[in-house]
Amino acid sequence: MKFKAVYSFLNTDLDIIETELEKTVRSDFPLLTEAGLHLLKAGGKRIRPVFVLLSGMFGDYNIHKIKNVAVALELIHMASLVHDDVIDDAELRRGQPTIKAKWDNRIAMYTGDYLFARSLELITNIERPIAHQILSKAMVELTLGEIEQVKDKYNFDQNLRTYLRRIKRKTAMLIAVSCQLGGVAGNADEQICKKLYWFGYFVGMSFQIIDDILDFTSTEEELGKPVGSDLLQGNITLPVLLAMEQDPSIQEFLNLLSKETASIKMLDPIINSVKKYGAIDRASEISDLYLKKAFEILEELPRNRARIALANIAKYIGKRKF
Ligand code: IPE
Ligand code: IPE
Ligand code: MG
Ligand code: MG
Ligand code: MG
Repeated sequence: MKFKAVYSFLNTDLDIIETELEKTVRSDFPLLTEAGLHLLKAGGKRIRPVFVLLSGMFGDYNIHKIKNVAVALELIHMASLVHDDVIDDAELRRGQPTIKAKWDNRIAMYTGDYLFARSLELITNIERPIAHQILSKAMVELTLGEIEQVKDKYNFDQNLRTYLRRIKRKTAMLIAVSCQLGGVAGNADEQICKKLYWFGYFVGMSFQIIDDILDFTSTEEELGKPVGSDLLQGNITLPVLLAMEQDPSIQEFLNLLSKETASIKMLDPIINSVKKYGAIDRASEISDLYLKKAFEILEELPRNRARIALANIAKYIGKRKF
């Protein structure tokens, strides 16, 4: 079965989300509209809106209410991508030039800010303070995760604990609150919303670990974004951390990397070590541990077709190649 077939019953509602997204990224300023639409039209999996909608089905599902949350979450994600491509100096996103490449860093800054602001505007349609608290906390954490990564560029003296904290902040929290806020918008029981949060958190941890693995194993064509760039940019991720445990000599090669010196050629011995010491497989095992926890939480949720779809999405995330 294709990934999208897992939630094909959401198709009509996802079309509504798409229309709303398009409406929302537009502004009175043509350049902002163009930049926002450029990223939107380039594609993307829209996984966060899907999580919002499915989670909303554990409460009173009303698309006209919940769409505000689903669109807000995709906008926050998009804004974070626009800013992330500035700090990661990335040229390609969703198979298209990044905003910072097509325009420049200044346009990227304000396109990101504009998308963030629009998402806040939308979420005011949910008249429960808790929704605002949850969302703003996730935005704070996302920013902390990204700035932590900027600070730690080319710092190879890192450990598993700091890595996990960073990916929790920059990725898992937003997926967790996508699920939690879906529940909140549908007025689902508080216990259910908490469980949805933890499901999203565990899936989100796995999602970023796999993104980090794919940076070593995938291709630009498949991902629509450059591969091999984490190390080049000085971003140390799980496969390298695991290889460091087995092969202390990798440190010497890492220490040679700096913003000024880093080149593709210098990565060869590091990538060889990652492969030789089975670090990719071990990183996948850690991703699977998170997924296992996600499945366990799902068991505690009421049985319905949203639960089945969430389980299938989690399964796909474990095997994803895109
Ligand atoms: C990319 O997210 C950034 C990460 C958090 C790993 P996605 O893989 O969800 O990106 P799109 O939206 O499909 O482009
Ligand atoms: C996740 O990290 C990005 C955000 C949370 C914004 P990455 O830097 O690995 O994301 P990609 O690989 O550029 O999509
Ligand atoms: Mg990044
Ligand atoms: Mg990046
Ligand atoms: Mg990445």
